[in-house]
Amino acid sequence: MPVNSNLIDWSSTFMCGIKIIDEQHKGLVDLVNDMFNHVTEDEEQEQKYLNKVINEAVNYIKVHFATEEKIMDATKYQGYAEHKNEHIKFIMTVIEHVEKFNSEKRISLMSFSKFLKEWILSHIAVVDRQYFVYFKEKASRKADGSLSISLEDGEEVLYSSANPGGF
Ligand SMILES: [Fe+2]
Ligand SMILES: [Fe+2]
Repeated sequence: MPVNSNLIDWSSTFMCGIKIIDEQHKGLVDLVNDMFNHVTEDEEQEQKYLNKVINEAVNYIKVHFATEEKIMDATKYQGYAEHKNEHIKFIMTVIEHVEKFNSEKRISLMSFSKFLKEWILSHIAVVDRQYFVYFKEKASRKADGSLSISLEDGEEVLYSSANPGGF
């Protein structure tokens, strides 16, 4: 396997235009690629790596889900409950995998990376994609021309001016 090969290549087709979401999705892709680059097939090494990164990785995923859910909440997104459910199921499955890793029923870092890849790619490309147009319609344009969505807590999420995903 070539060193520093990527399991996922980042693509602008994953982008919705909301800065924070696109950054977080890119972060998830980086996380999976980093994991894939630590595949050695050496149980001890892989365990060591996973122990080091797993808490931070799970937290990162949770923060991302919370960000999406806040925007869904603020925009009264119809698919909110269903989408949130997908997030919860995923977190539970990740935790199950990690528990397996810490038990006798060890799974390889390779199969864990591939599981994450499959889920993340299909989630972004299918489930997340369903809110891309909706969120944009709910965004408001400010005097300086920038687009943003106001959240319940008074925060706002901004669209990037480059509009990379075409939304
Ligand atoms: Fe997402
Ligand atoms: Fe999502």
